[in-house]
Formats: sequence, structure tokens, C-alpha cells
Amino acid sequence: MPVLTARALTKIYGSPKGGAATHALNGLSLEVDAGEFVGVMGPSGSGKTTLLNILATIDAPTSGSVEINGISPMKLHGSELARFRRRQLGFVFQDFNLLNTLSVRENIALPLALDNVPPREIHYRVLEVAGRLGITSILDKRTYEISGGEQQRTAIGRAIAPRPAILLADEPTGNLDSKSSYHVMQAFKDLNEKDGATILVVTHDPFVASFCQRVIFIRDGKLFSELWRGADGRQAFFQRVLDSLSLLGGEFSDVASARS
Ligand SMILES: Nc1ncnc2c1ncn2[C@@H]1O[C@H](COP(=O)(O)OP(=O)(O)O)[C@@H](O)[C@H]1O
Ligand SMILES: [Mg+2]
Repeated sequence: MPVLTARALTKIYGSPKGGAATHALNGLSLEVDAGEFVGVMGPSGSGKTTLLNILATIDAPTSGSVEINGISPMKLHGSELARFRRRQLGFVFQDFNLLNTLSVRENIALPLALDNVPPREIHYRVLEVAGRLGITSILDKRTYEISGGEQQRTAIGRAIAPRPAILLADEPTGNLDSKSSYHVMQAFKDLNEKDGATILVVTHDPFVASFCQRVIFIRDGKLFSELWRGADGRQAFFQRVLDSLSLLGGEFSDVASARS
């Protein structure tokens, strides 16, 4: 059974001055099964962030439906919706969104504390995710004492600690150099392969997509094509992702092909 089902999503942004409306999504459907690691790629303006914000319940579609673990978040309100987000969804953003007054350990513990997980259990869960993400030695540092890649791995720890049904990431390496990007994507891959985490990553970067098992290409808010990694190694899959991108067209503001 899929963890996530999105059906016929459309999103129309109105123009504030009454001019032409923007059709950001045009009937996009998507299913993600438990344990999948899926990338969503598309050129700038193709609707990637719009899609992610709808799946993340940050924004509502104009039409269409979303179900996560059989629950329709659009039907929830107030504290029910807040609890649904905390328990079922993990978010990772381009700019980390950590609390700078807290340590790495406290950042990871925060959502668990908010959900009244007992302190002893919080202690062990923080150690568990930190071990998986390779950040055990920096648990007591403040966020301004660590690198961008370590900050993003901390943010992943915070997102995964509540054991959400799905981890959603929007351009998670957008603010990182190539070495940190590698470590962050390897961390996602380990969470997926070793812990069975279900992950959806939205990116315009073929390097990021090459870590996924399946990549969906969107253009003009619609599904354009889909690739499965299969038995390919990452380098070979990276080449196939590049080939698909050349068919997709549009503008990719990055030179990621230089760092395969
Ligand atoms: N809040 C908004 N108001 C109006 N138009 C928007 C808004 N957000 C995005 N758009 C438009 O919707 C389209 C898709 O944007 P977006 O989802 O951000 O694409 P991507 O993340 O793939 O670059 C673009 O044409 C963009 O200009
Ligand atoms: Mg975007």
C-alpha cells in the first residue's frame, strides 16, 4: 500500500493585480510506496516546490487530493493537523531551519519533547539517529559551531527522530558545497537502505537525483517521464538522469554535471 497518494493535483496562483493566473500544477498524480527513495526533478518554475508544499500540508491544492498513511491532511484542522505533521511528516529544507540557540542534541530532541516522548527514550533516539547520520561527536555543539553539511544532517536527524511516515526534502543540498552535498545525500541513502525510511526529494540537481531509486520528471506542472535506477550504480544512473534532463529541456541554473 502506498504511504503517499496524490491524485490529479492542480494549483492555480491568482495574480494580485487581476492579470493572468499561473497554473503551477496541472493534474499531477503520484504514489510513493513504503521504503521508496524518490526524486522529483524539473526545470526552474516547473512546480516542484508547489508540489512539495502541498504534500507537506503547507499549502492547499486548487483541486485534487492527498493521502498520507490513509489520512487526508486537508480534512484536518488546528491541533489535529499539527499532530499529524509532527508524527507523519518529516521536513528538510534548503536553509536547514535549525534553532541557533540550541545544541545539535536539543534540535533533534525538540519534536520528540513536543510530542511528550519520555526523556529516556528521547536520549536513546537522539543517539540512534546521530549514529546513523555520523554526527555523534558534535551533539553538544551549537549550530554556529558546525559546518553546513553537519547542520543539514542535524536537520535530517530532527526530521527523522519522530519516525515519520515520509521524509520530504526541498533542494536539501541547495546551500552546500559538493563534499557536504555528498555526505548529506549519503545520509539519506543510509536512512533509506538501512532503516527503510521513505523519502521524497525535490531537486533540480542531477547529482542529488542520482542517489534515488526512482526519479520523476515534471514539466509545466505535469508528469513528463519516470526513471528507475534498477541495478545501476550511482554514476551510471547519473548519466541516465542527465539524458532524461536533456529531453525534458527548460532551464537548470546549476552546473551539477561537473560533480558527478
Ligand atoms: N506564491 C506564488 N504566487 C504566484 N505564483 C507562484 C507562487 N509560487 C510559485 N509560483 C509560480 O508557480 C510556478 C511554479 O513554481 P515553483 O513551484 O516554485 O517551481 P519550482 O520549485 O519547480 O522552481 C512558477 O511559474 C512560479 O512563478
Ligand atoms: Mg523550487
